[in-house]
Amino acid sequence: MKKILPQGLEPRDAYRLLLSAIAPRPIAFVSTVNKKGVPNAAPFCFFMGVTPSPPTIAFSVLRRGDQKKDTLRNLESTRDFVVNIVDEALAQAMNIASGSYPPDMSEFDVAGLTPTPSEIVTAPRIAESPVHLECKVRTILELGDLPAAIVVGEILCFHVHEEFVKDGIIDVRKLKPLGRAGENLYARFSDIFEMDMPA
Ligand SMILES: Cc1cc2nc3c(=O)[nH]c(=O)nc-3n(C[C@H](O)[C@H](O)[C@H](O)COP(=O)(O)O)c2cc1C
Repeated sequence: MKKILPQGLEPRDAYRLLLSAIAPRPIAFVSTVNKKGVPNAAPFCFFMGVTPSPPTIAFSVLRRGDQKKDTLRNLESTRDFVVNIVDEALAQAMNIASGSYPPDMSEFDVAGLTPTPSEIVTAPRIAESPVHLECKVRTILELGDLPAAIVVGEILCFHVHEEFVKDGIIDVRKLKPLGRAGENLYARFSDIFEMDMPA
């Protein structure tokens, strides 16, 4: 085994190692809106479910240099967001939306995404995504030397495209969510197997 101590790593190298150690990761394509009403969309793959009741999720927003990303600024001012799940069909648009654009330029326009009004929150949903989770920020926790923000959100409404709902759950074999591994590698949901948990 090769031993790697984080103290001896440059932050960028530690980040690259982390990205490849925790893989594949699901992708939260997060839509928000700023105070002026400009919609924003950006992918985040440091993403997880936290609690089932109430249903909460968390994702981590790093800094761009020493600046806060638009998503975090919008969350701090509006507290509303939508997690849009990414399938293969949405991969290219999601990648375009991950570029750095000024706050007054909407990734919906840049990436050709269609905004759909949410039921409860002010942030729009991404019509092209098969699953939308309307969320309200519960807490934002800052950690690290150049602080990353762990955003914990409560899901107020699930929207699932009809064709992917089966017995109250999402038919992932059909939906085929995209996974991210390492830096620019992505995993298709095409070779899966089933294994029962022990009692
Ligand atoms: C698949 C994918 C996953 C990403 N995951 C994260 C992440 O977990 N945290 C993060 O800070 N940036 C992540 N990024 C980079 C952001 O999407 C990127 O910095 C984006 O420009 C942020 O946009 P914003 O300034 O509109 O918030 C990811 C990019 C891609 C392509």
